Amino acid sequence: MKHLMDDRFTIRDAIVKDIDHVVGMRLRLQEHLLVSNPNVWQMSKKSVSCLSAFYKGALKDARSRLVVAEDNESGRIVGMGFGRIMEHEEHVPSRSGKIDDIWVEPSYRHKGLCQRMISELLTFFGSSKIDTIILNYVVGNLEAEAVWQRLGFSSVLITSTAKRSDVESRCRQKST
Ligand SMILES: CC(C)(COP(=O)(O)OP(=O)(O)OC[C@H]1O[C@@H](n2cnc3c(N)ncnc32)[C@H](O)[C@@H]1OP(=O)(O)O)[C@@H](O)C(=O)NCCC(=O)NCCS
Repeated sequence: MKHLMDDRFTIRDAIVKDIDHVVGMRLRLQEHLLVSNPNVWQMSKKSVSCLSAFYKGALKDARSRLVVAEDNESGRIVGMGFGRIMEHEEHVPSRSGKIDDIWVEPSYRHKGLCQRMISELLTFFGSSKIDTIILNYVVGNLEAEAVWQRLGFSSVLITSTAKRSDVESRCRQKST
């Protein structure tokens, strides 16, 4: 079935005309993350207002790749994938390919679009000889966990948050 559907969708590099759609999808992704886990940090108004400029900048940045999934029947943009090359000379490896934002519109899921967009990002990373891929996902985002595990990702670092006052009171309990 997946193969029959392949001709219906094109995965291609985003262009300036797509950026409003990309920003819309990024904001829906953020809402989805908040529903998945209410403790996740929200985007500031400033970062929301900078999103359009950020993605337009990424189109011109050789270290980034922004792809979209287009429905050939309707011309609608139904998915986005954003990856960028990270330089971190203090670590080994000194460069990695970071998958930042992946979104597929709900009625277009389970058609392999996520995997096809990831494949495009991997080709981009491969062309820069990057062998290590990294991503973050929110605890409670079950479909993300399922997709990433299926693709072979495993967790190496857990980010935890707490209210300072809660930690303080627990520290006090321990010391009394
Ligand atoms: C995660 C997401 C991008 C997957 O997109 P998709 O196009 O449906 O994924 P694919 O069709 O390429 O699925 C690939 C495989 O991942 C797994 N998978 C995908 N969605 C899943 C789900 N909801 N539950 C369990 N497994 C799932 C399946 O094994 C699937 O293969 P299959 O359809 O042959 O069973 C999509 O669900 C989405 O946009 N979710 C909200 C945003 C999000 O969480 N993004 C990731 C942030 S880190």
